[in-house]
Formats: sequence, C-alpha cells, structure tokens
Amino acid sequence: MKRVDDFRLKFGQKEYVPIMVGGMGVDISTAELALETARLGGIGHISDAMVNDVSDRRFDTSFVKDKTRQYKFNIDNADKSGIKFDLGVLAEATRRHVGATMEAKKGDGLIFVNCMEKLTMNGPRETLQVRMASAMDAGIDGITLSAGLHLGSFALIADHPRFRDVKLGIIVSSVRALQLFLRKNARLNRLPDFVIVEGPLAGGHLGFGMDWEQYDLATIMAEVIKYVMDEQLGIPVIAAGGIFTGSDAVQYLEMGSAAVQVATRFTVATECGLPEEVKQDYFKANEDDIEVNTISPTGYPMRMLKSSPAIGSGIRPGCESYGYLLDGNGNCAYITAYNRELALHPDGKNLVVMDKTCLCTHMRNFKCWTCGHYTYRLKDTSSRNADGSYQMLSAEHIFKDYQFSVDHQIALPTGTVTL
Ligand SMILES: Cc1cc2nc3c(=O)[nH]c(=O)nc-3n(C[C@H](O)[C@H](O)[C@H](O)COP(=O)(O)O)c2cc1C
Repeated sequence: MKRVDDFRLKFGQKEYVPIMVGGMGVDISTAELALETARLGGIGHISDAMVNDVSDRRFDTSFVKDKTRQYKFNIDNADKSGIKFDLGVLAEATRRHVGATMEAKKGDGLIFVNCMEKLTMNGPRETLQVRMASAMDAGIDGITLSAGLHLGSFALIADHPRFRDVKLGIIVSSVRALQLFLRKNARLNRLPDFVIVEGPLAGGHLGFGMDWEQYDLATIMAEVIKYVMDEQLGIPVIAAGGIFTGSDAVQYLEMGSAAVQVATRFTVATECGLPEEVKQDYFKANEDDIEVNTISPTGYPMRMLKSSPAIGSGIRPGCESYGYLLDGNGNCAYITAYNRELALHPDGKNLVVMDKTCLCTHMRNFKCWTCGHYTYRLKDTSSRNADGSYQMLSAEHIFKDYQFSVDHQIALPTGTVTL
C-alpha cells in the first residue's frame, strides 16, 4: 500500500515531499506554519493579503494607522476613489513579511507567497506588480497566483531579474482557465512552474459558481493532466480541495498529480494564525454548520462557518484603513450594499447587511471563518481535553500524518489512530 512519502515533487533537479500547505489569508497561513512545512521538506505558503496590516502585527510598523490618518477626512464619504495605497509602503511591508520569513527558513523545503488578483487595491496593476516584485526582491522561493485569471500577471514582472528563477504557478479550477492563461502568456516564453487545480471542496474563495456541487476535483484533474501531457508542457499539476487523508492524497498522486495542496487540516495547527477559540469552533463544526455563500464582495462564492460574525454585519466600510477590495475606480460591492441599507436606516444604528460583507475588516479581525468543506471532519483528527475542548495539533503532526499514513488512517496526537 502506497503512502505520500513514496512520491516526490520535482522542480528541475530538486525533489520535495509532495505536500503543499496552501496560502490562507489574512495571515491564517502564518510564517510559522510555512516555516514548519519547509523544514519538513514540503512547500509552505505565506499570503500577502492585507500585508500592511500583517507587517504592523509582526514588526510593529504603523502602516495601517498612517493610512487611516491620511484618509480620515473621507470616512463619511461614499466615494472611495481617492483612497490609494502608497506603493513604497506596500513594497516595504511585503519585503518585511517575506524577508523575515525567508531569513528564518530551515530545511529542504520551499516557501511561496499566495498572491490574489482579486485584491485590486484601487490600482490593480501597479499594486499587484509591487507585491510580486517586492516578494521576489525579498527572496521568496515562489509565487502562487490565485483568485483571478491572472492573464497579465507574468507580464508585470517579466523584467524582474528573478523572473526565470522564482517558481511561478497559478491556481485554476478548469482546463479552460489554464488554456486561457497559457495563450495570453505565450509571448513571454515562460511556462508556469506548476499548476494547482483547486476543486469545489476547498476553503476560501471558490473558482466555481453556486453550482459548485456539480463539479469534482478528480474529473478536472484528469482533464488538466491530459491537456498538459497532450501538449507536452511538462508542468507539474497539483491537486487541491478536499484532500483530507494521506490516502486521499495518494489517490491523486497515483493518477499523475505531482503533489497535493492542502489547508483545512492545518487550520487547527498551533502554528495557524486563527485565534484559539475560532480553532475550537472549526473542530466542533458539523456538516450543516458550513455553507457556501455569496457575501464576499469579490464576486466569488466563499465557504465559511454559518456562525461567522461577518455574516449580516453592517459595519461601516473600512476602506480608509484597508481598501484591499476597491476596484480601480474606488468601488466595492460591500460599499454599495452598505449605502443601500444606510439610505433605508439613516441613523446608521444596528445596520444589517445580508448580501455582502466588509471582507477586509472581518478577515483582518478573524471574524469571517472561511473553511474547507471537510472542516466537519476535523474533530476526528484530535482528542478531547477534560473540559471538552479539542487538543491543538502541531503542524509537524499533521504534515507527517499526510506523509506517512495509509488506509485513510488519521493519527491522533496521543499516537492512537482513528479510521
Ligand atoms: C481558512 C482558509 C483560508 C484560505 N485562504 C486562501 C487564500 O487566501 N488564497 C487562496 O488562494 N486560497 C485560500 N484557501 C484555499 C487553500 O489554499 C487550499 O487550496 C484549499 O483550501 C485546499 O483544500 P482543503 O482545505 O480541503 O485541504 C484557503 C483555505 C482555507 C481553509
């Protein structure tokens, strides 16, 4: 019977344990989690989502406070078009977050940064360019492009001295998205180094509509692998979304997946950035406590716990401090929804906005509990303490469970095994 450790992910001459821990913004996939993954020989991710805020927390900078002060005059103004990111600050925050992480790296693995296109930051092209270039400046091993088609993203960094040395990959949810990406980037003469195929059971935003249940990862994987083989592209294809046990992973590795990307199991790792009480909610969740909804202003469906405080919250848009989802014209679907409710209830008290949420504010405060479909199985991965709470797991424990387990077994922290 095979286990994940019988396989290796190959990038050129180098080999890695074929386990990638996916990016989870905002700072849910912390530097500590990525560093542990790399130490164990796999590929870890940090995320550059709301990186100014992450820098403030990690390095005691005051980027968010400074921006709030700069744009305070605009707080009651519905027009947010004038709120811009200072590109120098964005570069510094990214360099700090990435640089400190890379300096601390030990072991044979790699650390990538997850870079979402949907963080349009009221200046989609220039901010994305600065984010990617600064991460490369700071020594990142690779960039995973996500939450968007990224048709122009490679071109934004084509002049960077590390363009051909950094591992660059993209997350897709269909063979068509990959074809489109390759066609648009053909003139750069630089293929992606890896492609992650994310199915409909993943956490975070989904690359599917509300009909996500009609799709399945294995089918899309087979299509993408066939396409990459037929075209002789030689790009490693990596499966993601709903891979819960080592045996699930082996199933994909045997069908030609070069590695697997996993995340949900690591949301309850000690190294994961979620607050302890939220991790307990993830442990306790049942299947019907989880939903896919459309409250994210990005326009993509998102999976989360139904008890997320972000759902229904009518908080004032936080664009003066954050503004990561402002499109290039200062618009965000939450602002529209909020202003509609404000017009109906002009005193602004106890506003309820059901259709959209202020994702920046709520992700930043860990109030939007996005999660993978199989979050309801996390309770099977740990033991309970005397007070009924679940025992936190180390990232090493979860990683090694994926790496060495067989027969869908899951090793409990005490060393006992559950099926
Ligand atoms: C809490 C959470 C947050 C996530 N945030 C992001 C994100 O910011 N960007 C992204 O590309 N994917 C995000 N994802 C998706 C993961 O990186 C990963 O591809 C996916 O969840 C793998 O499926 P699994 O969770 O079933 O293992 C997130 C997943 C979770 C569980």
